[in-house]
Amino acid sequence: MCGIVGYLGKNAAPRIYAALKKLEYRGYDSAGIALLSDGKFTVRKKVGPVAGLKIADLAGNCGVGHTRWATHGAPTEQNAHPHVYGRFAVVHNGIIENYRTLKEECLARGEVFSSETDSEVIAHMLEHSYRGDLLEAVRAVTARLVGSYALAILCSDCPETVALAREKSPLIVGRGHVGLWCASDVPALAEKGMQLYPLGDGEFAVLHGDEAAFYDRDGAPLEKKPTLCDAARDTPEKGGFLHFMRKEIAEIPSVLRRRPHALTACGGFYEALCAAEHIGITACGTAYHAGLAAKYAFERLARMPCEVSFAGEYRYYEPIVPEKTLMLAVSQSGETADTIAAARLAKERGAVVAAVVNEEKSTLAALADFVVPVGAGREIAVAATKSYAAQVLTLDSMAASLAERRGLRGYGDLLKELPDLAEETLSVGEGVRAWVAHFLSARSVYFIGRGVDYAAALEGSLKLKEISYLPSEGYPASELKHGTLALIEAHTPVVAVLTSEALAEKTMNAVHEVTARGASVFLVTTVRACAETPGLAGAVLLPQCGDVFSPAISVIPLQLLAYYVSLARGNDPDRPRNLAKSVTVE
Ligand code: F6R
Repeated sequence: MCGIVGYLGKNAAPRIYAALKKLEYRGYDSAGIALLSDGKFTVRKKVGPVAGLKIADLAGNCGVGHTRWATHGAPTEQNAHPHVYGRFAVVHNGIIENYRTLKEECLARGEVFSSETDSEVIAHMLEHSYRGDLLEAVRAVTARLVGSYALAILCSDCPETVALAREKSPLIVGRGHVGLWCASDVPALAEKGMQLYPLGDGEFAVLHGDEAAFYDRDGAPLEKKPTLCDAARDTPEKGGFLHFMRKEIAEIPSVLRRRPHALTACGGFYEALCAAEHIGITACGTAYHAGLAAKYAFERLARMPCEVSFAGEYRYYEPIVPEKTLMLAVSQSGETADTIAAARLAKERGAVVAAVVNEEKSTLAALADFVVPVGAGREIAVAATKSYAAQVLTLDSMAASLAERRGLRGYGDLLKELPDLAEETLSVGEGVRAWVAHFLSARSVYFIGRGVDYAAALEGSLKLKEISYLPSEGYPASELKHGTLALIEAHTPVVAVLTSEALAEKTMNAVHEVTARGASVFLVTTVRACAETPGLAGAVLLPQCGDVFSPAISVIPLQLLAYYVSLARGNDPDRPRNLAKSVTVE
């Protein structure tokens, strides 16, 4: 949520602008840049994405920038960052939970606010606390903040200086061939060979001239060793596709092929998995759906009890953590605030925690006992696609290893076939283009399935709603007649997923029930006889992938459907409204 950038070096404005564009996956409600030159700030702001921010006349060698995902206050120019008050200009990513109390103090001093944001209060407090030592002022102010923040701060008394602070929101310092940088995430710093210094929670940095100095929570100097930026990974291109989302769907076979199944390589994780007597999975959104899909694998294949929870709920329902619990915290970004908090809580209550992440250098990875990378490569589109397939495969591989270890059955061959099956599915999945017209003006859409297909249906529904903005729900096919059937009318699109031969008859009963009430049913199935059922509005026949690991495959036509419906409705599938790629606030 929100991307921040700071830069010290020649020609700062266009560099900050370009870096902000690479952070737009974190939010694109509004954007702004402040430059400090000759003790004066020049600020430019606009509503909407970074493109069009007027920077041509902005000269200076020191500045900060921001791309916003609105939390407090509507996406307006006034609420856009940087927030300037007195000698300070501030960009902020995070949420200041106690900002009302702090703002009251400022208002009591007679200070006037120009925005409705929680962030502006930081600039006011800095102005009030500053006694000539920038770091001390930043430390004094942040000591009073409750919540999460990554801050980049300019002070008009301190030329060529950017002060930084971090608590629960990511912030990385980068030293390039020219200039010193800070940013919320690596893509903004993706220059081959750039030295990267991630800040930890409670740490500070002061960039001045070409020096970067780091400090701990108490203000004591810190030595940090840099890692080198891998530009090839960190500067993804669309590679001939119109959108990142479409490209990332196309990458699923290679992601599955690349994914190393060797859990033994994850520093003792395999032993922890084998020692566990209970599996917990906690995650949000798509990652939660991957967890649900894996529950079937853990319980059916490995006979291992597995409980899946929404991370944002887990935190607050006083969870019971059985002895010998292995908690798998699943997150593409590794920065999702709720998942991080749930993992922390599980750890406090005695669970061994493994971070199942795409971003290995993330906050979640840092706090976990073990890190299991899903290896999807950087994912740019806001809607998760290839990372879902990689999460499902990674979790299913764990279940398969356990099953083998327990002498139940080997699944290695089936797992190995998945990349080829995904390749084939990509091509048959294009058939969904013929379905698009039925969805364009639907009042609501339903996705149904049973068993593991229900998990896939939930993910198909989420994908469609988030990028097409059509109201859509995922249901177990068995549940329709308990209420939802009342919503089915003539031409209501219903997408049924069916990969389980054993449950085919049951799912088809639900298909017949909705067809009888006028629904247009679209089937995604591995069962030829079902695909040939008369009266279907459309069918995609998937290759035989069995029903245990099928969500990694059956999701592909559902992702393609969401993509093509989104396009046909004139949306930008890569940047759905109101959403951001990493949800770093609660
Ligand atoms: C949907 C989507 C979100 C994320 C969720 C968790 O397409 O991407 O639902 O899955 O915000 O994000 P991570 O996996 O980064 O924890």
